[in-house]
Amino acid sequence: MAGSLEAKLETVADWIAAARHVVVFTGAGVSTESGIPDFRGPGGIWSRYSPITYQEFISDPEARRESWRRSRESYSQFAAAQPNAAHLAIAELERLGKLECVITQNVDNLHQRAGNTRVIELHGNSQWVVCLECGKRYPRAEIQAWLERGVEMPACEQCGGILKSATVAFGQAMPERETTEAETYSRACDVFIVVGSSLVVYPAAYMPRYAKQSGARVVLVNASETDFDHRADAIFHERAGEVLPRLVDMVRARLPALPEGPPAA
Ligand code: APR
Repeated sequence: MAGSLEAKLETVADWIAAARHVVVFTGAGVSTESGIPDFRGPGGIWSRYSPITYQEFISDPEARRESWRRSRESYSQFAAAQPNAAHLAIAELERLGKLECVITQNVDNLHQRAGNTRVIELHGNSQWVVCLECGKRYPRAEIQAWLERGVEMPACEQCGGILKSATVAFGQAMPERETTEAETYSRACDVFIVVGSSLVVYPAAYMPRYAKQSGARVVLVNASETDFDHRADAIFHERAGEVLPRLVDMVRARLPALPEGPPAA
């Protein structure tokens, strides 16, 4: 769809206001304005480090030591991050009754902190650390204290097993329930909005494809081009923090005003 930013926003707001099932799908690009770097954008994490796979993490103590070093170093960024205007707009969409769920690849918990209650986390959540042997879970903040005391490779207090962030590493099995749920919602929606993802990591990147196959309109809000652009019904190569609040304001203006005050007796 060609046209000015304003005209495109108006059209997409019409689609959302008339939709019965809207799904938002997010990647690291929705959190960069909260101070959390993305992976493949300019200066992204993978331009500084190469990923440590799950196999390397569990079999190579040096890889595990490096992984925890990185985690310790980046912890303060995650801990200090606040939901930004894009997160808040997506939470408002749920409050307006215009959002089935957020499917996210992010592990930063910012959608939940912004107020979304239906969040499907495909790649886990960095708020927890789990023992790979006995399954005991630890708050990530507790493990940060160990790391700052000089522990280089945290081990389970209960069984001595390997501790790992409750996020999904390359080569690690995806969470089955979340992946199935995300596919179901993607196939059942009539508007699917991608926010801040390069759409190169599978199976997460199948979700917009499932939506398109099922007849949904797919909207991309991403600072750079993706290999899905040619299949999108509307594309915004602008910042999520600029586009989402304006879009949600337009949706709100199209919905019947919510009744003021207490419901009639
Ligand atoms: N507004 C809109 N788009 C943005 C913004 C912004 N403020 N900031 C960055 N972007 C875009 C970037 O241009 C990039 O195309 O967001 C996209 C983020 O892409 P990636 O860094 O590849 O992140 P993501 O798609 O979430 O990666 C998927 O890869 O490394 C794994 O597990 C990791 O979940 C992650 C997965």
